[in-house]
Amino acid sequence: MTLQQTGLDESTIAHDEEIPEAIRAIRTRRSGHNFDADTELDDETLEALIRDAALAPSSYNLQPWEFVAVQDDDRLEEVVELAYGQEHVREAGTAVLVVGHTEAETADRVFDQWEEAGRMDEEAAEQTKAQTVEMYDDDRMGRDYGVRNASLAAQNLLLSAHARGLTATPMIGFDAAGLSEFLELPDDKVPVMLIAVGPSGGEEPDRLPRRDVDEILHRESY
Ligand SMILES: Cc1cc2nc3c(=O)[nH]c(=O)nc-3n(C[C@H](O)[C@H](O)[C@H](O)COP(=O)(O)O)c2cc1C
Repeated sequence: MTLQQTGLDESTIAHDEEIPEAIRAIRTRRSGHNFDADTELDDETLEALIRDAALAPSSYNLQPWEFVAVQDDDRLEEVVELAYGQEHVREAGTAVLVVGHTEAETADRVFDQWEEAGRMDEEAAEQTKAQTVEMYDDDRMGRDYGVRNASLAAQNLLLSAHARGLTATPMIGFDAAGLSEFLELPDDKVPVMLIAVGPSGGEEPDRLPRRDVDEILHRESY
């Protein structure tokens, strides 16, 4: 891959002898809007993206996320409408809604696994589970829990799509209540991020500038 193809310039990589692929993916990922509308995402790739998304870190490994993929043309048309007419959703051919849990519903299974792996004894597992379930009982904490964890899964999905040569765009420009109803989300689930993903249609406009590290890095206190 040439420097030009990566979208990197010399100044970006000046101190790197060789950029690890993961860093390259982080640096070259874009929220693309140019999809190849004539090519479909195959099932195997969709599943691979979800598998990669599910490798994201999560609080106590609770993995409080679900993914709703819409690929049917008529249903995708509804999603476009609920996303305020964002046409690239149609062109991508696949829309994935990343959904967060607001309650620690996987706690029984996951804390058993901590115990089985010898990472917690029975007492610690029971105690931590009880504290975790209680903490997320609070409405605000429960919602934050879903959004924080599922957002990391969404980012994994974006990077995985990019690394596989696909284009993907995260979106919150959608009618949350309308989309939740259309996709039949249970009341205790929060729609976190809608991702349009599909084969790339080619070039994207240049990336807009990022704020400097000097501006955003606060040392010791804000
Ligand atoms: C929380 C969030 C919401 C976004 N919503 C939309 C959206 O509704 N539609 C869209 O086209 N892009 C959306 N984006 C993409 C941003 O416009 C994009 O990430 C930003 O311009 C930086 O560009 P880059 O991702 O190519 O680096 C969203 C991104 C994030 C993180």
